[in-house]
Amino acid sequence: MGEGLGLQKMIKATASKALVIRINLLFLAFFLIIYVGLFLQPSSSVYFDNAASVVRCSLRECHHKVEKSMKMEAIFEETTQARRPARRNVTKLEAPSFMNEIGRGMKIGMVNIMEEHNVSEWKIHGETIPVIFERVSEMFKWPDLFPEWIDEEEDNDSPTCPEIPIPDFRIYDNIDVVVAKLPCKYPEEGWGREVLRLQVHLIAANLAVKKGKRDWNRRTKVVLWSKCRPMLELFRCDDLVRQEGDWWYYEPEVTRLQQKVSLPVGSCKLALPLWGQGVHEVYDLSKIKSATKTVKREAYATVLHSSETYVCGAITLAQSLLKTGTKRDLILLIDRSISVPKRDALAAAGWKIRIIKRIRNPKAAKGTYNEYNYSKFRLWQLTDYDKIIFIDSDIIVLRNIDLLFHFPQMSATGNDVWIFNSGIMVIEPSTCTFRTLMNQTTEIVSYNGGDQGFLNEVYVWWHRLPRRVNFLKNFWANTTLEASVKNHLFGADPPELYSIHYLGLKPWLCYRDYDCNWDIGDQRVYASDVAHRRWWQLHDSMDEKLQKFCGLTKRRRIELDWDRKKAREAGLAREYWKINITDPRRSHLIDK
Ligand SMILES: *[C@@H]1O[C@H](CO)[C@@H](O)[C@H](O)[C@H]1NC(C)=O
Ligand SMILES: *[C@@H]1O[C@H](CO)[C@@H](O)[C@H](O)[C@H]1NC(C)=O
Ligand SMILES: *[C@@H]1O[C@H](CO)[C@@H](O)[C@H](O)[C@H]1NC(C)=O
Ligand SMILES: *[C@@H]1O[C@H](CO)[C@@H](O)[C@H](O)[C@H]1NC(C)=O
Ligand SMILES: *[C@@H]1O[C@H](CO)[C@@H](O)[C@H](O)[C@H]1NC(C)=O
Ligand SMILES: *[C@@H]1O[C@H](CO)[C@@H](O)[C@H](O)[C@H]1NC(C)=O
Repeated sequence: MGEGLGLQKMIKATASKALVIRINLLFLAFFLIIYVGLFLQPSSSVYFDNAASVVRCSLRECHHKVEKSMKMEAIFEETTQARRPARRNVTKLEAPSFMNEIGRGMKIGMVNIMEEHNVSEWKIHGETIPVIFERVSEMFKWPDLFPEWIDEEEDNDSPTCPEIPIPDFRIYDNIDVVVAKLPCKYPEEGWGREVLRLQVHLIAANLAVKKGKRDWNRRTKVVLWSKCRPMLELFRCDDLVRQEGDWWYYEPEVTRLQQKVSLPVGSCKLALPLWGQGVHEVYDLSKIKSATKTVKREAYATVLHSSETYVCGAITLAQSLLKTGTKRDLILLIDRSISVPKRDALAAAGWKIRIIKRIRNPKAAKGTYNEYNYSKFRLWQLTDYDKIIFIDSDIIVLRNIDLLFHFPQMSATGNDVWIFNSGIMVIEPSTCTFRTLMNQTTEIVSYNGGDQGFLNEVYVWWHRLPRRVNFLKNFWANTTLEASVKNHLFGADPPELYSIHYLGLKPWLCYRDYDCNWDIGDQRVYASDVAHRRWWQLHDSMDEKLQKFCGLTKRRRIELDWDRKKAREAGLAREYWKINITDPRRSHLIDK
């Protein structure tokens, strides 16, 4: 186990503690208000009204409401301060030389520039138009946009996002080129998650979409000035035409940019509400503004490298995808550690196989479990596809998820704090993105040493998919309510979840008889017999020739029996170790 994993767990543990504290506070507040209500006006109707208004506000929303009013005050203070005559030091700003190529006699929209700079020298290129906007309050932080949890199924309330001030562009003329100065706090810690930086990006993108003149190719012109690389979530490196010092000249495709700015400003709302009122409602695809072409160059993909442990997982994943009736290609990237018979089985299961050279994380210690996890970056080299849905090979898909191809990169489900889970991701292959990722492997420190931590530093602005799309098999809250809700979902037939993500020890590495996560104290938060049975049900529906690849190795049997022995010695509750093993795999090892 790497140290990184420990940290991840710690974050999770604190998160669930915070939840407990919030629940306690809510109950306290609830009783206090009823008490005050009773005290002031002991009439039963008033009592009822008061109670109802509290109950309707869900835990986190109440918490947020307090914060929001604080923020309003802060915004108010800032604006009063701004009214004082503040003499700024206005410095002259020279235009980059490529402005000569872009043209003359243009209308130039200037975002975040003319307050601090004298742009009189830009006159030779045309008219400079200041774009006035209200800066977001400094009280407004990244977690307000990327909360860990949202009430996505609208049990109590529909999720809302705080408002980022974006000017009303109707008052502006059409603009030939947008020029923006992006804030950059690099190398300060957390520079990538600065709300003001996002705001200026969004204003530039919105202005380009709404007022930018387009060429015959539906491209518009954006010039950004920043020491930091502009956010590639909005300005793709493929669209970068020129770079000169801190100046970046992009010609973005308007359609793509338009889809991006039409999405919520953060993961505070679902990228698209999946289930209007009830979870069984059918997805309304007409709501999606899709930029996808009629010829679909789209595929599902997964990656296997360094060991054969996940071969069975990839086989069952392919089989589960085919059962959903998808017509998309299934692409499997493998390195040379996967033997030829295993490759044949994977192909028989439905994968089109491509061999890759694995990618080492230069910051990982030699021989650690996540040393080569950056191999996932090879997905961006699948440039014969426009879009890829990546799925980890410890996931099984239960319902058709083709609709995810309508979402842009980077769409994913939440993991913890503002981090997305990299188990299912919508990716847009691009050689230049691949190079950018590779270029940063020596700089970026991944919080867990894996690709998830790395990608979360690159794609800080991501779009939230419903958690049922990548439903994590965990019980981090450790309550009976959580267990019953989740186990109901794991077992539902017809399925209610789109997929199950088997965290912890994988089902094919356990005996069939029960989820072996029960036998290890700190893995018990991943144990679910219902989810375990679901997996074996899928396994049993596969061809026997494929099932053979899900057998146990001698080594694995020794480990399992060791864990059972330890569980017995520790007297672990529920006594799973007492169950007599009937799994025939126990006596038919695959490496005799
Ligand atoms: C204004 O800017 C100039 C040039 O950048 C600098 O020399 C001067 O000290 C600045 N003045 C103030 C008051 O900041
Ligand atoms: C900007 O600089 C030009 C030329 O140096 C000067 O004429 C003009 O008044 C300046 N404008 C502002 C707003 O300071
Ligand atoms: C990668 O980094 C090097 C050095 O920092 C730089 O010269 C090069 O342009 C970068 N490439 C990309 C694609 O960002
Ligand atoms: C790295 O990859 C391995 C297998 O591919 C996986 O078991 C592990 O969880 C990954 N580690 C991280 C930190 O993502
Ligand atoms: C979960 O709860 C059980 C009993 O309520 C307790 O024994 C166990 O230690 C808890 N597990 C964790 C990881 O907190
Ligand atoms: C397991 O098998 C042993 C011996 O065959 C038997 O005594 C015991 O009752 C069985 N335990 C369970 C839980 O079935």
